[in-house]
This record gives sequence, C-alpha cells and structure tokens, in this order.
Amino acid sequence: MKICITGGAGFIGSHIAEECVKKGYEVIVFDNFSTGKKENLSFVKNFPGSSLKIVKGDVADYKAVSKAVKGCNAIFHEAAVASVQKSIENPPATFESNAKGTLNVLEASRNNGVTKVIFACSAAIFGDHPEIPKREDSPVLPKSPYGADKYISEVYLRLYNELYNLTTVSLRYFNVFGPRQDPSSPYSGVISIFTTRIAQGKDITVFGDGKQYRDFIFVKDVVQANMLALEKINSGFHYYNVGYGKATDLNTLIAILKKIYNKDIKVNYAEARAGDIKESVTDPSKIIKELGFTPGYSVEEGLRILVESLQ
Ligand SMILES: NC(=O)c1ccc[n+]([C@@H]2O[C@H](COP(=O)([O-])OP(=O)(O)OC[C@H]3O[C@@H](n4cnc5c(N)ncnc54)[C@H](O)[C@@H]3O)[C@@H](O)[C@H]2O)c1
Repeated sequence: MKICITGGAGFIGSHIAEECVKKGYEVIVFDNFSTGKKENLSFVKNFPGSSLKIVKGDVADYKAVSKAVKGCNAIFHEAAVASVQKSIENPPATFESNAKGTLNVLEASRNNGVTKVIFACSAAIFGDHPEIPKREDSPVLPKSPYGADKYISEVYLRLYNELYNLTTVSLRYFNVFGPRQDPSSPYSGVISIFTTRIAQGKDITVFGDGKQYRDFIFVKDVVQANMLALEKINSGFHYYNVGYGKATDLNTLIAILKKIYNKDIKVNYAEARAGDIKESVTDPSKIIKELGFTPGYSVEEGLRILVESLQ
C-alpha cells in the first residue's frame, strides 16, 4: 500500500507516518516544514528496509500536490496552519493552507486515481455552542477562520464523495497531546505550559477557577482512529468526533502532573480570560460503534509518556 501523508513531518502526521512505516506501507511525507521537522521522522532508522520519502512542498500548490500523490492508494491529510490565533490574524493566508489546501488534495486525488482521503478536522468547527457533549450532529458554529476552514474542508469531502465517488473520512480531533508536539501549539498549550513550569518548580497561573475542561486525547489513540478509517472504510463519506469522551479539568490536569513530577507547586488563580471556551468534550459512541475504536491510553498514561519524552 502506498500512502501520502500531508503534514507528515508535524506532530500528529509524524506519528501516523511511524505507524504506516511499522505496517510496511510505502510512505510519502509531503510537508512545507513551516512547523514540521525532519527530526520528527528520525524513527525511520529503527525500521531498516522501510520506504519513507520526504517531498518538500505546499498543499496550496496544486501541481506539487498532484505530482506527490501520483500512484498513492490513500492520503492522510494533516497539513494545516494549526493555529486559531494565526487564522484570526491573517484569514486569507490560513485559508490558502487550510481550505484551498484541502481542495487541492481532493482534486489531486480525483485526478490521480487515489481512492481514499482521511482528513484531520477539528473540534473547532463546533465553536462555543453550548451543547455538551458534542455529538457528530451537534450544531456547527465555528468561531475562527481556522474553524471555518476546517468545516468547509469537511463540506468538500462530502461533495467529492457525492460527485466523484472518492471515499472520504473526516476525523474531528479534540485536544491531542503527546511527544513531538510543538510547545507553542494552541491546542494543548496548557499541557506544555504546565509541564514546563512544574518541571522547573515554578508556580502555575490558572485563568478562572480551573474547572474548565477539555477532552484531551493521547496522540497514539488519534493514530488508531486514522488506521481504523484506512482499514475499515472503503466507500462513502464519513465523519467522526475523535476524543475519549472524558472531561479533564485544569485542576485535575495539575494534580496528575504534580503526581508524575512528584512536586508540590503553588497554583495561582487569576480572572478568567474573555473568549476562553469553558467546556469541550465529545461523545465518542459513533466511532466506537462503527469502527471499533478502543482507546489504549488514559490521560494520565499519556501524560507519563509525554513527561518521559521531555526528560
Ligand atoms: N493538535 C491538536 O490538538 C489538533 C486538534 C484538532 C485538529 N488538529 C489538526 O491536525 C493536523 C495536524 O496538527 P498538528 O497538531 O500535528 O500540527 P503541526 O503544526 O505539528 O503539523 C502540521 C504540519 O503541516 C505542515 N504544513 C503546514 N502548512 C502546510 C502547507 N501549506 N503545505 C504543506 N505542509 C504544511 C507543517 O509543516 C507541519 O508539519 C492539522 O490539520 C490540525 O489542524 C490538531
């Protein structure tokens, strides 16, 4: 099987690449290296005889995408400017990578005999609509150009299935964390900040009462969701929320990290920041029922692995 992974040198993409290499697939990593790093692909030395080719290119460049995906059976489309903040600062620039980039990947698939596209969508499509937990058909209300780009991408996934019979799967990731994550990631920024400060024995500041929660999911379980989509879905357009369905609030996160580091850290509580989403958690029943998704890690186990990787 020949697989192309756009954004394959990034945090999540490199873990997907690692699993594909482990399975003996021929892998093409297509990345512009804006946040991705070659070091994220250094796992390849543990798999002698494996096939991993790196192509430097931009998903906004149709010709480059088209050339890279020729002969591939499937694409994991992870490439994006993964920053809500950047998308608010410069919507047109983010649109190039995040919306036009997806359209290019779909069009290149249609024109080059690729049969399946699995897309990294995001819980950001839901914005701060109050319905909790988020189900697949919960109201979509993006609050940023990033969320809007992810949603329009998903609409194109559906259209490319209906119009051109391309098999498409949208995986709406919740808050992914794990080794190789850029510490400035807007998603699990809080995990990076807390781990760094606790490791240095410094105080932590929490905005609000610390009861705001997220559905944190360890990256290896996101890889599992992607592999299930690759192996089990062979037709149609499908969309799944990808999370544990478990709310972890900031106070719990701090308690777990204190335990892992075995350090007692002072926690300061400051006024809540305007615009912060208070609650985000999914109901993962659909992906469990339809694809047999079985998370292999708890948040605590994932955090232990992350802390180990940082030491
Ligand atoms: N990390 C999360 O919690 C989370 C949550 C929801 C969705 N996502 C989505 O998952 C995907 C992967 O995110 P990540 O956290 O690994 O971020 P990341 O920044 O580590 O990975 C993104 C990769 O895409 C590459 N890239 C960016 N723009 C590109 C372009 N125009 N052309 C080619 N390559 C480009 C980057 O160099 C990087 O390697 C993204 O699509 C992101 O929006 C992430």
